[in-house]
Amino acid sequence: MSKPDVLAVAKLHPFFQKSLEAVYTVHDRTHVTDPAAFAQLAPRIVAVAATGESQVPADLLAHLPQTKVVSVFGVGYDGVDVPAAIRYGIPVTHTPDVLTDDVADLAMGLVLSVGRTIPQADQFVRQGLWPHGPIALGKKVSGARLGIVGLGRIGKAIAQRAQAFNMSIAYTARSEKSGTGYTYYPTPAALAAQVDFLVVITPGGAGTRHLIDAQVLQALGPKGYLINVARGSVVDEAALVAALQAGTIAGAGLDVFADEPHVPQALWTLPHVVLTPHMASATRETRQAMADLAFANLHAGVTGAPLRTPVPECAAR
Ligand code: NAP
Ligand code: 8YV
Repeated sequence: MSKPDVLAVAKLHPFFQKSLEAVYTVHDRTHVTDPAAFAQLAPRIVAVAATGESQVPADLLAHLPQTKVVSVFGVGYDGVDVPAAIRYGIPVTHTPDVLTDDVADLAMGLVLSVGRTIPQADQFVRQGLWPHGPIALGKKVSGARLGIVGLGRIGKAIAQRAQAFNMSIAYTARSEKSGTGYTYYPTPAALAAQVDFLVVITPGGAGTRHLIDAQVLQALGPKGYLINVARGSVVDEAALVAALQAGTIAGAGLDVFADEPHVPQALWTLPHVVLTPHMASATRETRQAMADLAFANLHAGVTGAPLRTPVPECAAR
């Protein structure tokens, strides 16, 4: 008997791909690479497998009458048209919690990297510059003021780590959180004006588009550093490049970009900037846990079992 058909709307991580292939026939981006074949296949697709960066628009879902679930390998699902999925009766799932530690670890890694210029120092040694003079001084991280934009699962884990560095912690979110002991500011600009490191860890999508704009960067100021581990869309990238070029802010640590995998050339050569390729959850342990959860969600959706981790909009139904 042939295996049920799953549409992968992005190149899947090998761990996820492997577990799916044991049970399903996985069609890798057929909707993009071979629309004619997809037209034949679409009525048989029982599930969609996606990543956090994937686009799953309404007009794709409209062609999938037998689809029982959209399973996202990632906690962010800003590329999925969730209202449309709900209209079509297709629940959406994601992979919260299992990646929280890794993303918080990388956020702190970027704070340390930009503050203490670790990648630049590595280059300084490798390029034989050490004998010719001392490296420029960095910014002390211990005891510095940290601002977190988005105090959710990952934001709270970043705050926990920062406490071990004796950092003072402030945050903004859509609503104030009771009992944290951290200082709340109602806007990113108000927060930015009070901190040395501003870490962005909100969801992407229309609600947060360019939340970090020229005004916020101005408020962060020439001694302030921006860290973005959220989504490229949350930061006005042109305004960020302009601020870095003008010295409006001191530096940036960036894991996410507006048009991945393309990073503006201007950022490649700027000093005081540390760039990573959207890798905050990219450890063997966490990618395996994400694959296991994404597979469990997909298989539950297809077989009619309870979903492990539906997105909040679908959990409420
Ligand atoms: P979460 O628990 O849902 O937390 C999201 C936080 O963002 C909440 O505190 C929320 O505030 C806040 N927020 C939402 N909209 C906002 C707005 N307009 N202004 C200010 N704050 C806003 O999610 P999570 O698990 O921490 O994950 C957060 C995001 O991190 C994901 O959605 C994804 O985009 C990103 N991420 C990136 C990577 C990577 O590889 N770089 C990996 C994993 C996750 P309220 O609580 O007040 O609603
Ligand atoms: C992943 C992410 O890199 O969870 C998210 O929202 O952005 C990351 O963990 C991504 O989903 C895998 O492609």
